[in-house]
Amino acid sequence: MSEGKRVIGLSSSPRRRGNSALLAEAILEGAAQAGHKVELIHLPDHVSGLLRNCRECRRPDGSCSIEDGYRALFLDKVLAADALVLATPIWWYGMSAGLKNFLDRMFCYIALSYPDCENVHRRLMHKRVALALSAEENNISARLGIVQSVQELSRYLHYTMAGIVTGIGNKTGEIKDDPTNPLEDARELGRRLFLVKETDYKLDSVRAGRVWGEDERSFPTTWR
Ligand SMILES: Cc1cc2nc3c(=O)[nH]c(=O)nc-3n(C[C@H](O)[C@H](O)[C@H](O)COP(=O)(O)O)c2cc1C
Repeated sequence: MSEGKRVIGLSSSPRRRGNSALLAEAILEGAAQAGHKVELIHLPDHVSGLLRNCRECRRPDGSCSIEDGYRALFLDKVLAADALVLATPIWWYGMSAGLKNFLDRMFCYIALSYPDCENVHRRLMHKRVALALSAEENNISARLGIVQSVQELSRYLHYTMAGIVTGIGNKTGEIKDDPTNPLEDARELGRRLFLVKETDYKLDSVRAGRVWGEDERSFPTTWR
């Protein structure tokens, strides 16, 4: 059923073993414990070019002319994944430029001018997404911009937001000292990645009166 899914972590901080990367690693660790195939990608190793104007830089055969590892990463790994773990430090109350650019660059492949765009559309939709955030500041309002952005992306792509975990720290690896233990929450989120049931009820949604009990898989979204 939910076993043996493919989970890919996209770590966007330039710090290879930084706080957000540790959170992504912990989510993947939990997902692996639940029997899923996991891989952590350090985005700066694969993506260096910014999105440009596709009308000017697309090659005559329709391919993207930006020469870095994005094409292989996106077409071979991201599209094949059942769940994406997006990891970012909070930078100026938004996501890192690296993660934003990764999302922007999807445009090269979903635009109608990309010959295989229909296949890309089909394979890009209906995934699960988890968000791993690290920040110096602990106020909830500092995170809302990123959460809102990923929530809208999820709505657009028919993704299920499985959870959000935030660790507080500033120096490299400092979230290990966060006394609220976000790394353990991240592992738990990873274990439940495919079990979380998103509610988003409407007035006429068919549902049981009580939340807990009958459906063992009806876990709430992590939000810390
Ligand atoms: C350019 C830049 C902007 C930042 N902006 C914020 C911010 O708006 N709010 C905040 O809480 N922390 C901010 N920080 C601190 C980082 O979010 C924090 O150090 C985080 O743990 C780094 O994660 P990493 O190790 O994964 O890179 C900023 C850091 C940098 C380098």
